[in-house]
Amino acid sequence: MRVTLFGASGLLGQDLVRELNREQNQLTAFSVEDADLRNHARVRNLVRDSRPEWILLLAAYTDVDGCEANRDLAFAVNYEGAVNVAQAAREAGSRLMFLSTDYVFDGSKRSPYETSDARKPIGVYGESKARAEERLLEILPEVCIARTSWLFGHGGKCFPATVLKLASTRPEISVVNDQRGSPTFTRDLASALVELCRASARGIVHVTNSGNCTWYEFATEIVGVSGMPAKVKPVTTAEFPRPARRPAYSVLSPASLHAYNVHMPEWQDALRRYLAGAPAASASVLP
Ligand SMILES: NC(=O)c1ccc[n+]([C@@H]2O[C@H](COP(=O)([O-])OP(=O)(O)OC[C@H]3O[C@@H](n4cnc5c(N)ncnc54)[C@H](OP(=O)(O)O)[C@@H]3O)[C@@H](O)[C@H]2O)c1
Repeated sequence: MRVTLFGASGLLGQDLVRELNREQNQLTAFSVEDADLRNHARVRNLVRDSRPEWILLLAAYTDVDGCEANRDLAFAVNYEGAVNVAQAAREAGSRLMFLSTDYVFDGSKRSPYETSDARKPIGVYGESKARAEERLLEILPEVCIARTSWLFGHGGKCFPATVLKLASTRPEISVVNDQRGSPTFTRDLASALVELCRASARGIVHVTNSGNCTWYEFATEIVGVSGMPAKVKPVTTAEFPRPARRPAYSVLSPASLHAYNVHMPEWQDALRRYLAGAPAASASVLP
C-alpha cells in the first residue's frame, strides 16, 4: 500500500510507522515539525506530492484537560486540521482513516457503545473529535473513522508507565474506580488498523483490546503482574477532580471490527506483552 501518515512521532504513530515498514508498504510519515495540520496549503501539497492510497490521520491535540483551557486550539487542530486533511484527500483521490475516541460519548450507557449510538461528548476534546467525525463523513462519505480508547504503548507517556513509576516510589497509590473502558495497546491497534486498510474499511469502526476494566482494576493488574509491593487504593472521580469531565463508561462494542474479521487480544494479554517489552528500568520490576 502507498500510505501517508500524519502524527508519526506520537504514541500510536511510532508503532504504526514500525508496523507499516515491517510490511514493506510505501510509507511517507509526517510529524508536527513536517506538517502542522492547521496549515492547509502545506497539508495539501504534502498529500498531492505523496499521492497515497490511504492517509492515516493520527495527529491531534490529545491533552484532554488542556483542551478545556484551550478550546480554540482544540478545534483548530482536531476539527479544522482534520477538515484540511479530508479536503486534501478528496482532491488527491485518497482514502482517509481518521483516529477518533471513546470520548465522543457521555458515558451514560451501561452496555458497550455501538457505532450507531449518538455522539454526546461531555468535554472539549470529545466535542472537537465528534464534530470532526460529522464533517469528515460529509466531505468524504468513504472515510474510515477508527474510534479507540485508553491507549498505552512504548512510544511515550501512558498510564501503565505512570503507575510503574509511582508504585516504585510509594507504598500506596490511589486510582479512580468509577470510570470503565478498554485499555488498548498501540501495537495491537497498529496491526488492526493496517488490516482495516487492507480490507478497504469505511464508516465508523470501534478498535480496542477486548474486555474492559476501571482505572483501579487496570492499575491493580499492572502492579500485580510487575510483582511490586505497592498497594492500590480505589477512589472516586469526585475525590480527584480534573478540568475535563470523563465518561464513566466508554466501552466500545467490537461488532464493527468483527464485521471485517479483525479480532483484538484481551487487554490483560496486551498488558503482559507491554510489560515484557518495557524499557530496562521498568522491566527490572518484573518477577
Ligand atoms: N491516547 C489515547 O488514549 C487515545 C484514546 C482515544 C483516541 N486517541 C486518538 O488516537 C490518535 C493517536 O493518539 P496518541 O495518543 O498517539 O496521540 P499523541 O501521542 O498525543 O500524538 C499526537 C501527535 O500529534 C501531534 N500534533 C499535535 N498538534 C499537531 C498539529 N497542529 N499538527 C500536526 N501534528 C500535531 C503531536 O505532536 P506534539 O506531541 O509535538 O504536540 C503528536 O506527535 C489521536 O488522534 C487521538 O485523538 C487517543
